[in-house]
Amino acid sequence: MSPDAASAESLLAFWAEAGVDAMLLDEPVDRIAAGKIAPPAPPARKAAAAAPAPSPLRAANQPDVSAAIAQARELASAADSLDALVAAIAGFDGCPLKFEGAASQAVVYRGDPAAALMVIGEGPGADEDRQGQPFVGRAGQLLDKMLAAAGLTGRVLITNTVFWRPPGNRTPTPQEQAVCAPFVERAIALVQPKMLLLVGAASAKSMLKTEDGILSMRGRWREWRSADGALELPAMPTLHPAFLLRQPAAKKKAWADLLTLTERLDRPDRPTE
Ligand code: URA
Repeated sequence: MSPDAASAESLLAFWAEAGVDAMLLDEPVDRIAAGKIAPPAPPARKAAAAAPAPSPLRAANQPDVSAAIAQARELASAADSLDALVAAIAGFDGCPLKFEGAASQAVVYRGDPAAALMVIGEGPGADEDRQGQPFVGRAGQLLDKMLAAAGLTGRVLITNTVFWRPPGNRTPTPQEQAVCAPFVERAIALVQPKMLLLVGAASAKSMLKTEDGILSMRGRWREWRSADGALELPAMPTLHPAFLLRQPAAKKKAWADLLTLTERLDRPDRPTE
């Protein structure tokens, strides 16, 4: 190996060790517009229909994801089991994240397919991407400890608002979340949990379609509704365990949120505030 190659390799190894595992530009790149990613074809049956109204999800500098959302809806509604849903997500090419940060397979869920509680996080990180399961890194270990302390081990199904790792662990965009949302909704419909725990701002905002901040939302019951209004569930926003690792003093707030949740889960007949 030439001295240049050896020093480049050692510099890269140093960066990787320090957690720098993605090269990012200052501005997001629209890879669909740049022709790097082919947007999915609109579903065949809808091709002849009138042109859809402009999507409210078409924000400046963001790709138009309405065709991808339509395709995700179609695939999700055809999935009649969690296994079929996992296969549908794995075969879906409409989420740009699949071609950006993710090194491996789609990260869909772990836990009990008939769980009373569904935990919905933000999106997979590096450990999740490697292992193919949500919340298996340091934040996931803290989440598991908190769930265990609340008596919830084995009673939850854990998933995320997106199924591929955002590059550099950035927050998924509303467009990326909107593309994955039909699959998240279908997972909720298949699992039929009694309630949702929305972990972190990116999850709570996307699931509840709000711009409210997590610090004002956490610990208070909200109502989650599916896009077609057919499903409704109580949802508890709480702080993300990655935030708790950085701000351990906030753990008592998240713990209080979990106790509020378990109280309702285990004693559903008690009135809630
Ligand atoms: N953070 C999340 O929001 N989800 C994961 O799966 C891991 C870390």
